[in-house]
Amino acid sequence: MKQTILVTGGTGFIGSHTSVELIEAGYNVVIVDNLSNSKIEVLDGIEKITGTRPAFEQVDLRDFEATKNVFLKYPDIEGIIHFAASKAVGESVQEPLMYYRNNVVSLLNLLELMPQYNVKGLIFSSSCTVYGQPNPENLPVTEEAPHQKATSPYGNTKEINEQIILDYIHSGANIKSIVLRYFNPIGAHSSAHPSALIGELPNGVPNNLIPYVTQTAMGIRKELTIFGNDYNTPDGTCIRDYIYVVDLAKAHVAAMARVLDQDTDKIEYFNIGTGHGNSTLEIVETFEHATKVKVNWKYGPRREGDIEKIWGDCSKANSILGWKADTPLSDVLLSAWKWQEKLRADGVM
Ligand code: NAD
Ligand code: WQD
Repeated sequence: MKQTILVTGGTGFIGSHTSVELIEAGYNVVIVDNLSNSKIEVLDGIEKITGTRPAFEQVDLRDFEATKNVFLKYPDIEGIIHFAASKAVGESVQEPLMYYRNNVVSLLNLLELMPQYNVKGLIFSSSCTVYGQPNPENLPVTEEAPHQKATSPYGNTKEINEQIILDYIHSGANIKSIVLRYFNPIGAHSSAHPSALIGELPNGVPNNLIPYVTQTAMGIRKELTIFGNDYNTPDGTCIRDYIYVVDLAKAHVAAMARVLDQDTDKIEYFNIGTGHGNSTLEIVETFEHATKVKVNWKYGPRREGDIEKIWGDCSKANSILGWKADTPLSDVLLSAWKWQEKLRADGVM
């Protein structure tokens, strides 16, 4: 009997890739999304890749009754992967109340409904942002690393949500959870199907590095600014742990199998990254080498709020989840470029 998984935010960047992997792993998928940062056409892309169109409910998870109706309509939901959130760091500084209401109330509604509808497991999308800037001698950062005060309301919602889940489980709630702390997800599904449309669709001017690189390479942006080359790193630019979004999606399949089917602790935490870091300059140079496309770039001043360097110790996920991110960086960057070319070919941008 196929197990049914609720994927909140499932038409989003990571949720859509995870829905593909869940379907291909034999799960039934129900997507809930309010389409505030994604498009319904993503369902077509998922169907073209997998041959299966997931059930979809356009619901705002801040609406308790509407969310409850999803559990009434799909009584066989056994697990939830909770991607739905607002995630733009800069925007969260301007709109803190929207971020706290959206990211915290949505989780509270799901947690309250889970025991009522016998939903066993919750996978929560957290972020390495909870670690802040680890001490250099503590890199790669482990799950036991101290958390640092969030530098944005967005990052604070991740910290608060992790604590809410822990407190709820400690109160005796009959649920289990696995918290996945992602590093920097990048790239897009390299579907054999030419018209499959799933990838990162940033609204407006991208904040994140990879969409800015691909849009500059496509001529949509005039020039990439590398924010700072005076950091204490080998080439002076910041270092991050860039993980292929498809590898990240596969980690969710492994985590779901664990949270549903094994006798494990009621809450577990895993770093989900590649285990090594690359600098901003390395990313640009690797992109140009992989795609043979030039990127106009210059050095500029540091971006406020950026940490200098972080990459994850992911050995716990490697050993306990039996999962490892193993896609070469050049292939990942090539997938991002092919996605950009597809957006151009389809007149999207
Ligand atoms: P995304 O914006 O592409 O996807 C989020 C989806 O949630 C969107 O489709 C949006 O429409 C939906 N959504 C937002 N609020 C909702 C609500 N109230 N009700 C229903 N749907 C709602 O973002 P993403 O990059 O796929 O990120 C997914 C999750 O992973 C987020 O929780 C994010 O904080 C986390 N995360 C992302 C990154 C990253 O770099 N992308 C890194 C670490 C953690
Ligand atoms: C990566 C590197 C920049 C753009 C953010 C959020 C984090 C998570 C992932 C949600 C940095 C440099 C970037 C540019 C640049 N999101 N850069 N020029 O900041 O590591 O993490 O996204 O959970 O919470 O903070 O990712 O892609 O913005 O930047 O030089 O135009 O690229 O300085 O070193 P970041 P990013």
